[in-house]
Amino acid sequence: MSIFLPLEKLKLNMIDLRSDTITRPTVEMLEVMISAEVGDDVFSEDETVNRFQHKIATMFGMEAGLFVPSGTMSNQLALKVLTQPGDEILIEEKSHVYNYETGGAAFLSGLQIQPVKGVHGKLDPDILEHRKRGEFDWEPNTTVLCLENTTNKGGGTCYSKEELNNLKQFASQEELMIHLDGARIWNAITATGIDASYFGKIADTVSVCFSKGLGAPIGSMLLSSGKRIKKARRFRKMWGGGMRQVGLLAAAANYAVEHHWPLLVEDHRRAKAFGEVVHNSRKLEIDTNSVETNIVIFDVLEGTAIEVVSLLEEEGIRMVPFGPKTIRATFHHQISNSQFARLLETFSTLFS
Ligand SMILES: Cc1ncc(COP(=O)(O)O)c(C=O)c1O
Repeated sequence: MSIFLPLEKLKLNMIDLRSDTITRPTVEMLEVMISAEVGDDVFSEDETVNRFQHKIATMFGMEAGLFVPSGTMSNQLALKVLTQPGDEILIEEKSHVYNYETGGAAFLSGLQIQPVKGVHGKLDPDILEHRKRGEFDWEPNTTVLCLENTTNKGGGTCYSKEELNNLKQFASQEELMIHLDGARIWNAITATGIDASYFGKIADTVSVCFSKGLGAPIGSMLLSSGKRIKKARRFRKMWGGGMRQVGLLAAAANYAVEHHWPLLVEDHRRAKAFGEVVHNSRKLEIDTNSVETNIVIFDVLEGTAIEVVSLLEEEGIRMVPFGPKTIRATFHHQISNSQFARLLETFSTLFS
């Protein structure tokens, strides 16, 4: 039985743009996994994950890192260590934490979420003005500002350094801590050129994922101060996320950072080129300014998103409905040049 067979089939048949999480480990990645030095990480004896946590924490200007199974766990651990039950967090209404984490902030940390409408999933101090509460006994205590970079539902947009600076200033004035959901921070760094260490200056906790565009099979990391990470480690164990020979996964994630991060440039180039084809299609609508990284969100002018996604499926193209009229396509490194050419050709034929 070959683990590679499904990928070959996938390559031949489907142009799968449903998500950048659908990529399979490459042969080279599997090789580094097999040869990783491992130990029991519940005893902190897995040197591969220890080295990797240190490396990523240093890269982002943070004291410590904690390897976790998913971006969801990483975000939820961050909120847990930053807040007290009954606190309120400010977050953009399209964000993953608010929409796609099964109400975890309420269930796991007893938090109230105040969703705020931003622009393409992004917030700024003007939008956030007067949103912080807690002056009176009867108000919730707003303690955390949660940002997403790049935005997912916002269309892969990212914050500029100036925007981040303004938000940091605002948060300091308002005495808010910042959690940054950086599931696709690698795309943001690629697109903006902002150094990773800068995010450690902006945020109190940062969550990064290796299983999105970087293409590792599993793994995210929470980054923060040593004290907070120590606390998060206890909750990770409580929530069933303490792992044993996790160096296998850390080795894959490290390989992804080293070898797949540089490939994101090409995903971004393709997303822009595809966005232009969508823009030139009479039956589709897009705000091309929103295409900054590997995600392309567009609207269908005829029929519903579900109908168009089914039509595309018949043409060997997979995307996801993201609203009644809205579709998302996400680019990743396991789309070949010929598949990309076929994608553009099919769209030009079907929707012009
Ligand atoms: C912005 C963002 N944050 C967090 C997550 C959660 O990651 P996971 O699926 O690993 O839990 C995702 C997943 O797609 C995401 O897009």
